[in-house]
This record gives sequence, C-alpha cells and structure tokens, in this order.
Amino acid sequence: MTEAPFVLDEQLARFELDAARARTSAEVQKLRVDWLGKGHGVVTAFLGLLREVPKDEKGAYGAGVNKLKARVEARLKELEGAAAAEAARAAESARAVDVTLPPRVPAVGRLHPLTVVRRRIEASFRSLGYEVADGPEVESDWYNFESLNFPPDHPARDAVDTFFVKGGGTGRDRLLLRTHTSPVQMRTMLSRKPPIRILCPGRVFRKDDIDPRHLPVFNQIEGLAVDEGITFADLRGTLAAFARTFFGDRAKVRFGPTFFPFVEPGVDVAVSCVLCEQKGCRVCSGSGWIEIMGAGMVHPKVLENGGIDPERYTGFAFGMGVDRIALLLHGLPDLRLLLENDLRFLDRVWSS
Ligand code: PHE
Repeated sequence: MTEAPFVLDEQLARFELDAARARTSAEVQKLRVDWLGKGHGVVTAFLGLLREVPKDEKGAYGAGVNKLKARVEARLKELEGAAAAEAARAAESARAVDVTLPPRVPAVGRLHPLTVVRRRIEASFRSLGYEVADGPEVESDWYNFESLNFPPDHPARDAVDTFFVKGGGTGRDRLLLRTHTSPVQMRTMLSRKPPIRILCPGRVFRKDDIDPRHLPVFNQIEGLAVDEGITFADLRGTLAAFARTFFGDRAKVRFGPTFFPFVEPGVDVAVSCVLCEQKGCRVCSGSGWIEIMGAGMVHPKVLENGGIDPERYTGFAFGMGVDRIALLLHGLPDLRLLLENDLRFLDRVWSS
C-alpha cells in the first residue's frame, strides 16, 4: 500500500478540526473555498495530483481523494444548513419586541407661564361678566395718545419712549407701536354702546433699555367698564374681588393717588404681598405691598371722544402688567427668563 491514503486520512482529520470551528455562514463559506475552491482548495489540489501518481497506485489514491471529497461535501452541506438556520433564528429574534426595554416617555408640551397667568386673569374677570376684546399692535397716535387725553407735549409721546412706525406730528396718520393697551378702550367705546365690560390682553412696546425689570416688549391686560351709575366704589370692589380670586382669599388691595391723562382720579393699585403674607420680603422690598396696576375713573373727555355722553355714563379702567404678575407668582428674578424659552427654566417653574 502506498502512502497516499494515509495522507488523505490526515487531511480528513484536519478538515474535521476546521469544520468543528466553523459556525457562521461566512466561516462555512471560507471552509468551502479552502477545501473545494477551484484554484487552491485542498481537495482540488489532491485531485490535480492524480496525474502524477504512478499507475499502480492511482486506484487507491483516487478512491482516497474521492472519499475525502465526499466527506468534505457532505459535512459542508450540513454546516451550511445549520448556519442558515442560525441566521434565520437571529433575524427572527432581532424582529421580536423586547418587552424589557425601558420606556421612552414622550415630551409633553405645557402652556407657557405667561399664557397661564393671562388665562387666569381673564377667567377671573370673565366670572365678573367681562368679555375679551382685541386691538391692533400698530396703532395711530390718535388712539394711543390723543383720544386718551394725552396733551401734545406729554413726555410719553417722546421718541425716546415710543417706537414710531410711520408719519409725523399727531393724529390718525401717525403710526406707532402701541405703548399700552388703553387704545382698545377707545376702539371699544366707538364700536358699541354701554353697558361695556371688556378685558383686553395684548403686547405693548416701549423703548426701554433691557434689564431684569424692563423689556421693550411686554404684556398688559386692560379692563374697561362703562355704564350708568358706575362709581369709584365699583372699581374698588371689582379689583378687590379680582385680587381674591387671583391671589387667594386673604389678598388685600390698597389704592394710592397717581396720574394718568385718561382717568380722573387715577390710582396705583397694590396687592398685599402673597409671598410673605406682609411680613416683608425681597419681592415686596420689605413693604408688604406690591404694585400691580394702574386704574381710575374714565376721564369725561375720553368718554366724549369715545362717543359716550359723560353726563349720563361713567366708567372705570385699569391696566396691569402680565409679565410682572408672573414674576411675582413664581418669585422670579428676571423678566428675560419669560422670553428665552429655555426648557430648563420652564420645567423648573412648573415643578415649583
Ligand atoms: N395704560 C396705563 C399704563 O400703561 C395703565 C392704566 C390703564 C392706567 C387703565 C389706568 C387705567 O401704565
């Protein structure tokens, strides 16, 4: 007997070792190329050597190579089947739902603090019979100043304070960004008859330098009531009722004299500090009181400009800063926080 079959047995043993390590399709594919590949496959090479084998040994050698080839082919088929089944299992489990994954909680939107404060103020006056009215942000000098009894040389009309948009002088042709919501009083009086009870929330604009307490754009809410027999006592009662529904049952209001051209008398309205219950704190500067709005009895001239007979009707008006009230409620140090929409801040305001 020649050596050939022995060498082939050795090759078969080597193949079995390789085969035992091949798991994945790629590994099995490599095994097939290594052993049966056209150029350099081990079995192919041994088959090629058949030519060189002496005649009398060809029979045994050929049988040995064929046995090796058959064994390699059969085993590769097995391995390919197993690798394909494994790949299918892996694909199946990749598709499966993993119920142990931590949940992905969607971010839930919330109303901006300013919107919440505005809506609460609106709700508290709606419960007193007020309707919400609207007016333009670009106003004429007539609505913003002249009709509201601002004399032509009033400092508020100065370009230092007011953003002028178009035209010069005064009157209806001169356009500006409204400096307060009071022009909506005039628009309302001219468009309907008493009794009037309206609330007008809106943005207003003033050329203020930006600092923690001032912004060139901020939010006011204006109120106007006109009817027969309205007195200063109604104004006080209304604002006291508002303070209680908005700031809580223990809230008190205090009125101090001040001047606005469109009311007579005019008052500053302060509410007792809700943060320290009047013990004195940083927010109320130790005084126990916080000024939240201007108010007063509508000036007869303003009623007249609005087409309402001041002999028959009287009324009161008030205006408050929404941003300022939001600062108070949340104890915030800086108005700018309300405009920057930094989610870290907004989240904190809501969890406080
Ligand atoms: N318009 C005034 C302001 O902007 C506020 C105000 C409104 C005062 C109504 C009295 C009556 O300061």
